[in-house]
Amino acid sequence: MEKIFNTLIDSFIESKVGIANNFLSVALAAQLKSNLIGLYNEKSMVAAGIGNETITVHNKLVRSDVIYWLDRKHNNKHENDFFDLMDDFVIYLNRTCYTGITGYEFHYTLYEKGSFYKKHIDQFQQNGSRAYSMVMYLNVDWQKSDGGELCIHHLNNLQNISPINGKSVFFKSNELAHEVLVTHEPRMSITGWLKTN
Ligand code: OGA
Ligand code: NI
Repeated sequence: MEKIFNTLIDSFIESKVGIANNFLSVALAAQLKSNLIGLYNEKSMVAAGIGNETITVHNKLVRSDVIYWLDRKHNNKHENDFFDLMDDFVIYLNRTCYTGITGYEFHYTLYEKGSFYKKHIDQFQQNGSRAYSMVMYLNVDWQKSDGGELCIHHLNNLQNISPINGKSVFFKSNELAHEVLVTHEPRMSITGWLKTN
């Protein structure tokens, strides 16, 4: 995995947005996607909030995705495989870049057809613990016409990233404004944050 970790970290250092195409194996991506679809069908996925952690505002004009938090306590083999991978990544990141990450949080995310997330920054106003944002996509056969790109707002340009299966995107949470463009097909991912104290 170190080669893929390096791809993600090197591209992050070079352009503020790390991208690694096969961060999740095809098998793990398929298993996590199957978990996500199961959760969606049993209606466990809920509208995501915005703003700060104490006052959760559900504003469908800002974002219209639904989420479910991963947890080792679920004792789900594939969720735990994912956490093992993230543990390896965090150890590697801390060792090579002195990032001082002490925790993380991840949720399954589904954008139904027509959903989006308007331009925002991934940090709560009252809490700066989210240091890095990470998204891993679970969409096999994504077409350009399906939309749903992650659009990063750099100072002088926009960067559109398509949510293709297995791809991971990594950037600093307090720095880069970004949005999810309207998706024309169901768009699935694992989204999360690496945290510092
Ligand atoms: C987020 C977010 C990007 C994506 O959940 O904060 O910006 O590509 N997600 O899903
Ligand atoms: Ni975001």
